[in-house]
Amino acid sequence: MSKKTVTACILIPGLIVLSRYVRPNDLLTVTLVDQKVPYFTPTFPNLSNVCENIHQSTSVQDLLCMKTPTFLKNYKNPCWMDNAKLRCQPYFHLIGNAKCGTSDFYRRLTVHPDILYNKGFLHKETSFWSRQRFGYIHGAHGGHYENKKNFHWYTDKFNASGLERFKDENDFHYKITGVGDPMDFYDRFHDNMMPQNQRDAEELKWTTPHVLRHLNPNIKLILILRDPIER
Ligand SMILES: *[C@@H]1O[C@H](CO)[C@@H](O)[C@H](O)[C@H]1NC(C)=O
Ligand SMILES: *[C@@H]1O[C@H](CO)[C@@H](O)[C@H](O)[C@H]1NC(C)=O
Repeated sequence: MSKKTVTACILIPGLIVLSRYVRPNDLLTVTLVDQKVPYFTPTFPNLSNVCENIHQSTSVQDLLCMKTPTFLKNYKNPCWMDNAKLRCQPYFHLIGNAKCGTSDFYRRLTVHPDILYNKGFLHKETSFWSRQRFGYIHGAHGGHYENKKNFHWYTDKFNASGLERFKDENDFHYKITGVGDPMDFYDRFHDNMMPQNQRDAEELKWTTPHVLRHLNPNIKLILILRDPIER
């Protein structure tokens, strides 16, 4: 077993970049160097008029216009009550990249006793943000379109009852869950179907990352990159 050190830099709060791929038998050590990297505070667009600025009517659910959930304070994971039903989003989101060891890394994360895996493909992927919510299904020999999935379809992938079950002596629910959709870093091909966008615009005003940030302002994004020549 070889030992590799992976240097992770927090470039913007919540974004961790792992600098190299680690093979399955490598012993993974992650060094966080967030103190040494200058970071900026990203600005987020003002969404107050976003429901009035609809440019096209599509049957894609308007998530930008949806209210940010009020998360329960006694949950570490972002969970909220929605009509007496506990719903949860993931605490962390592994957004990429394809063929950079995301399945391996995701598996290693979820062996942690306080991380619950999700009910998606490989207990990891939902393909909701860049594909399923636009009705796009990606296949080995091209894609096809079927019914568009909504936000409840996505949140149903997360094990709310599992997160609810575990709490400490202060009634704090300490477990978290995550998602790993490695296409989300690069797959912007359907963002022009968002109601606020003009389909033929040269540059889209709104993209999926805006929606993700709107519905879960403290989402932790993890990105793994890999030396393209070695690959
Ligand atoms: C957002 O825009 C609205 C409408 O233009 C304005 O009233 C409000 O003050 C703005 N909010 C912030 C935080 O800038
Ligand atoms: C949800 O989490 C609980 C607790 O870890 C587990 O027993 C249960 O099997 C999980 N359910 C699903 C569908 O993964």
